[in-house]
Amino acid sequence: MPELIGIGVGPGDPELLTVKAVNAIHNADVIMCPASKEDRPSIALSVVSSLIEKSKNQEIIRLIFPMTKDKELLEAAWKKNAYIMAEKVLEGKNVVYLTVGDPYLYSTWMYMHKEIKRNHPAMKISAIPGIVSIFTFASKVGISIAEGAEKVSIIPSCYDLSTVKEIAKNSETMVFLKDGRYFDQVVDLLKESGFPDNSVFAIGQDLGTENEIIRKLTLGEVTDGTLTTKYFSILVVKRV
Ligand SMILES: C[S@@+](CC[C@H](N)C(=O)[O-])C[C@H]1O[C@@H](n2cnc3c(N)ncnc32)[C@H](O)[C@@H]1O
Repeated sequence: MPELIGIGVGPGDPELLTVKAVNAIHNADVIMCPASKEDRPSIALSVVSSLIEKSKNQEIIRLIFPMTKDKELLEAAWKKNAYIMAEKVLEGKNVVYLTVGDPYLYSTWMYMHKEIKRNHPAMKISAIPGIVSIFTFASKVGISIAEGAEKVSIIPSCYDLSTVKEIAKNSETMVFLKDGRYFDQVVDLLKESGFPDNSVFAIGQDLGTENEIIRKLTLGEVTDGTLTTKYFSILVVKRV
């Protein structure tokens, strides 16, 4: 029976793919991946490019998911892409959809899954987890995300940050994803919240790629200025 599989390809290093993900990619007739624009590369596809065998004639389809907060535009893209995906499975093809990190953390996969499940309840759909950017970063920097009774918050920085100060008061570790361009604002809020100056402050950019940058200091050592300008950035702040 043809099936659709959402695959987490991890943070960027092809060696951080699971064996299950590699097998599913090899067995696929069609490989789909997200891109933000027609002329932009798909990061998820670039992670697995060395695995794709030209000789097998696997069809590769880039699906455009615009980087916008406009709900109407987003929903239109989800519907269109879910339709393209489902049609290929209905043609009898094994389809995989590649997504950075894990498919169930801020990924386009979950919208595809919901939409296709609603329209085709009998379709075989599954997911293969991937290594999440947060834990890749923790391993690289050598900081634990949580110990004992510690509480962790995960915050997407490009949305409303008005609750950050309150959350900071109730978290030992705070992880900020989705867009390093907002990290300067986050630092101001953390300082205003009274998060201790001696807290570990670690930033990672383009993890697992040749452009990777990692910085580790304390919150008190952070001075004004642009910390990172990259969307693919992660910030972990942890009380000591
Ligand atoms: C749309 S979310 C996808 C998260 C992904 N599904 C995961 O499990 O890590 C994109 C955000 O994840 C983080 N991210 C994912 N991969 C990263 C990488 N290789 N380096 C730095 N940050 C990364 C960044 O915060 C980025 O803005």
